[in-house]
Amino acid sequence: MGTDAQSPRGDAERSASGSDTDGHATGAGESAPADTGRASAAGKSAPADTGRASAAGKSAPADTGRLTAGAAGRLAGLIALVTGGLGGIGAAVARLFVSEGATVLVTDLAPHGTPPPGATYRPLDVTDESAWQALTGELRRDHGRLDVLVHSAGIAISRPLLDTSAAEFRRVQETNTTATFLAIRAAAPLMPPGGSIVTLSSINGVLGATGLAAYAATKFAVRGLTKVAALELAEAGIRVNTLCPGSIATAITAAPGFADTDMDAYTRTIPLGRRGAAQDVAEAALYLASDASAYVTGTELVVDGGITAGRRFPRR
Ligand SMILES: NC(=O)c1ccc[n+]([C@@H]2O[C@H](COP(=O)([O-])OP(=O)(O)OC[C@H]3O[C@@H](n4cnc5c(N)ncnc54)[C@H](O)[C@@H]3O)[C@@H](O)[C@H]2O)c1
Repeated sequence: MGTDAQSPRGDAERSASGSDTDGHATGAGESAPADTGRASAAGKSAPADTGRASAAGKSAPADTGRLTAGAAGRLAGLIALVTGGLGGIGAAVARLFVSEGATVLVTDLAPHGTPPPGATYRPLDVTDESAWQALTGELRRDHGRLDVLVHSAGIAISRPLLDTSAAEFRRVQETNTTATFLAIRAAAPLMPPGGSIVTLSSINGVLGATGLAAYAATKFAVRGLTKVAALELAEAGIRVNTLCPGSIATAITAAPGFADTDMDAYTRTIPLGRRGAAQDVAEAALYLASDASAYVTGTELVVDGGITAGRRFPRR
């Protein structure tokens, strides 16, 4: 990260990521193995000036060596916070980040799962402004900084617009939109140059979808928030990007109203022929968190098996 003093590394042990709980054959070793050499390949083609500090457009210390740190993990020495980290995507992100050498703090509502081995758990309601203040105080005290935030906490409801109550609509806004604002605002002041914030939008933040009035409104908003944050934080060398997952088999798709969806029929419309696994999204989060994406900010990375790529004309 910013300086070597801020980014101790080399003591992290790489371990295989756990398999995903939804049964898709997309464990870390299969979808994008940590040892494929992607980071080190980048290191070969990208000289030292692609290191984290260069994201700020400032001079990059030649000795950061971030992109060639493959053996120690692509996030070696970094402090990462994953909100919603007991949920499907957050847990996969936390697992992968631990295996890539990061020190990972997982937060969520009251425990309802086991934090990934190697990660630390702490409760945090992301809608609670004072709870964010307490958490950032602890991070400052314990680590002096935060290098990566993946803000994965979120909720969904699936209900026709005309049947959605104002209270439901507001609850989804509060949890998905306002909390994303709170998360960015809390995390950024702790980040040295090279910091990376990853927010969670959705393909429902790119296209409309029936039944998702409240949810889609938040996910479009997250994309806007992310772009503004990217612009305003670029000067500090902090990158802010959003992920737009397609249908990922996690608990969120068991939320109210989703039971009415014919998932088999939906899955047949996905060009790559399957729903995503949390690990698919975690691999994309790793890219955005790591120096491999040092020149990427203010953008969206769609992870959806191709469903938003366009229309497929039915063939006779
Ligand atoms: N699963 C999908 O198909 C999909 C697709 C696109 C985007 N997303 C987004 O990805 C993110 C993660 O979703 P997931 O699929 O892992 O769902 P999930 O339900 O498995 O996990 C979400 C986690 O957020 C936590 N959470 C909810 N409200 C919270 C609050 N107020 N404070 C703290 N934690 C809270 C939940 O306890 C849960 O552990 C969400 O923002 C979701 O909108 C998911």
